[in-house]
Formats: sequence, structure tokens, C-alpha cells
Amino acid sequence: MNLPPFNIFPTLSTEKIMLREILISDIPDIVEISFYNAKQAENLEQAIEMHERINQDYRNGNSIHWGISHRSTNKIMGTCGYYRGLETGTGELGCVLLPMFRGQGIMTNAMKLAIDFGLYKIELNRIMAKTNKQNQSAIKLLDRLNFIKVDDLLNEEFKYEYKSQLKSK
Ligand SMILES: CC(C)(COP(=O)(O)OP(=O)(O)OC[C@H]1O[C@@H](n2cnc3c(N)ncnc32)[C@H](O)[C@@H]1OP(=O)(O)O)[C@@H](O)C(=O)NCCC(=O)NCCS
Repeated sequence: MNLPPFNIFPTLSTEKIMLREILISDIPDIVEISFYNAKQAENLEQAIEMHERINQDYRNGNSIHWGISHRSTNKIMGTCGYYRGLETGTGELGCVLLPMFRGQGIMTNAMKLAIDFGLYKIELNRIMAKTNKQNQSAIKLLDRLNFIKVDDLLNEEFKYEYKSQLKSK
């Protein structure tokens, strides 16, 4: 496996979007979608502190967190990444979009890039995701991406696992 940190922070892109490193100058745009340990930032100061913790986790090899930017504006529209368990060969994917960028297919494309990176660059054996049982948008997203429900957790969450027929592409 090739665990973080990498010599150069990996940038992934399609024609329209880029998954890139989040800079301190991006943080004011993403305060409302800044989370750490499921806690949401309430202000810029907390968002910056969370960003520092996320960077430390990256340096420790536990996670990789990308900003999803539009290639024409370079503005961050959302984030996604792997947040736990990389050293065991299992990545837990998480993601969030700013509300104004939802409903346009952005996250489906971002997650495809992150999944490919997890499988072929980090060489993960499994990719998991968890979502609240009421979170229809996340459930639809995971269905679209070929995740299947593998567990019904006690805390009102479903656990999903990515199942690809195409691992040897
Ligand atoms: C989960 C979340 C990222 C999903 O966002 P999303 O906008 O529904 O997902 P996508 O960006 O992939 O967009 C897909 C939607 O855009 C629509 N769409 C519109 N134009 C599109 C286009 N050109 N291409 C693809 N899809 C398009 C799709 O039909 C789909 O809508 P539907 O789900 O109603 O069918 C978002 O709801 C969110 O940030 N939630 C809060 C955080 C969260 O719950 N995270 C999940 C943890 S697992």
C-alpha cells in the first residue's frame, strides 16, 4: 500500500472539477462544511483548527482530505476524502457539498476520482461509507456509485461498502 503523506499532495481532476489540497485561504468559504469527528465548525476559528487537525492526520498517514474545486473558478464547492483506517487497508469515505452546489452531479464525479485513487494509488482492499438512515441524498449517491448496504448500525446509521466488478481496469 502507498499510505499518505505523499511527496506531492495528489491532485485529481476531470474536465470540470479538481480534487486538490485545501489552503488556509479557502477556509472562509467552507466554514459551514468543516467537520472533525462529526462536529461541525461554528466559526472561522474552529474551521481553521479542524483544518490543522485534518492536516496532522494526513501527515500521520491516517487520512486524505481533498477540496473539490471548479476548474474555471478554483473555488471550493465541497470536500471529500478518506478519514480512518487506511493502515488496515480499509478506507472510510466521507463527503459534503456546500448547499448551493448540490443537485448537479459534482459529488458523484468527485467520489469516482477518490474511489479510483483509493483502489489504485493507495491500494486499499475495501472502501466503506456510513450514512444516517434518513439521509436520502447520501443513500442515492452511494447507490449510484455501486456501494451496497452491508450493515444496519445501532446509531441510526447504515454502513455501505463499495463493490466494483472493475477493479482490474
Ligand atoms: C450527500 C451529498 C454530497 C449529495 O449531494 P448531491 O448533490 O445529491 O450529489 P451529486 O453532486 O452527485 O448530484 C447528484 C444529483 O444531481 C442531479 N444532477 C443534476 N444535473 C446533473 C448532471 N449534469 N450530472 C449528474 N447529476 C446531475 C442528479 O440527478 C442527482 O439528483 P438526485 O439525487 O435527486 O437524483 C449532499 O447532499 C451533502 O453534502 N449532504 C451533507 C453531507 C452528507 O450527508 N454527506 C454524506 C456522508 S456519506
